Amino acid sequence: MRIFAPLSFAVLVLSSLTASSQTPAAPKTPAVATQKVAQTPPMGWNSWNFFFEKVTDKDIRDSADQIVATGMKDAGYVYVNIDDTWEGERDASGVLHTNSKFPDMKALADYVHSKGLKIGIYSSPGPKTCAGYAGSLGHEEQDAQLYASWGIDYLKYDLCSFSAQVMAKQAPDDKAVQMRLMIATYDKMDKALKATGRPIVFSLCQYGWDAVWEWAPSVGGNLWRTTGDITPNWDRIYAILSQQAGLEKYAGPGHSNDPDMLEVGNGKLKLAENRAHFSMWSMLAAPLLAGNDLPNMKPEIKAILTNRDVIAIDQDRLGKQASRVYSDGEVEVWTRHLTGGALAIAVLNAGDNRYSTHPFHLNLAKLGLHGPMQAKNLWTGMTITLTQNMPIEILSHDVLLVRIGALK
Ligand code: GLA
Repeated sequence: MRIFAPLSFAVLVLSSLTASSQTPAAPKTPAVATQKVAQTPPMGWNSWNFFFEKVTDKDIRDSADQIVATGMKDAGYVYVNIDDTWEGERDASGVLHTNSKFPDMKALADYVHSKGLKIGIYSSPGPKTCAGYAGSLGHEEQDAQLYASWGIDYLKYDLCSFSAQVMAKQAPDDKAVQMRLMIATYDKMDKALKATGRPIVFSLCQYGWDAVWEWAPSVGGNLWRTTGDITPNWDRIYAILSQQAGLEKYAGPGHSNDPDMLEVGNGKLKLAENRAHFSMWSMLAAPLLAGNDLPNMKPEIKAILTNRDVIAIDQDRLGKQASRVYSDGEVEVWTRHLTGGALAIAVLNAGDNRYSTHPFHLNLAKLGLHGPMQAKNLWTGMTITLTQNMPIEILSHDVLLVRIGALK
């Protein structure tokens, strides 16, 4: 349940906390602050899921090159996002510098932009990021201005040490005050970003605490993490998927639930698992931020990440996230309403065994549909006819993803 409190109170508490830090420079006049960003879920690539703390300037340039060379850019991937571990030290004026892995952030941003792509960066409202690098606490306006001066287009703002170093210290016995402090610090960075006048996508990362989906839009959030971290492991991916059921009413143009970045192509995920992961994230209207090793991407992984029909489901402008309509045993049926009265249906076999002797029977009536009806199988490209109670065999951890044109 959301813990409601006027933001002004929390802002007051937070400002007294940060009073010892330097006075930030007056923000520049907002010029295009009202410009809308991320009207469909952001698409791109982020460094964390493959490189973790080892990412370098060269990795970002190589990834940008690959997004163009592999056709991912043409398929809609735009943002090249640097996650944690780019940060260096602050100088005497409080200006944050990059560390030696990123010798010149402005030059890197210019390079990414020269490819027709956009660039994202990462910080924390706490004194330290999750990997222990410098966070933005007390330097929010200064950091926002710095990002804008580099040409940054996207900020992932990750709670990390703000929880232990600010929330727990300020209000050790009062969770409600802690949550207000958290909301206030996101509001503070939103205002700082808007004051730059540069359109910057604002990505909240606080693991879904305090029903973030209820308040994130009010602090300018374009997307907000709904869970803890993803790993390239089917059980974790399925657990995250399950947590998204019921959140669909909070998604819409400019506002996305974020079940975390893609693990497609990472770890030991099987091909079916990669396909199911990508299908379900598209059904969820989730941000599609690939996190794999682009220079060494296998053709079958590229085929998944660039499937235009599946991406079109994710990017549908209605922005309606899928609902889990029913499940039968370990098979789940999700539907997503699309522009023009079209419908996407995903039938997911979440179980560990193939349904061979006991095929799943699709109950169209439960979806409010009457067969027979024609649909496009978005992974084979073939037309299939859906009929009431038709038997469907789906491999373990695989999916049948179809699109039906305008319903009559
Ligand atoms: C947290 C986030 C991850 C990643 C790391 C970086 O764990 O949830 O997505 O950004 O921090 O340190």
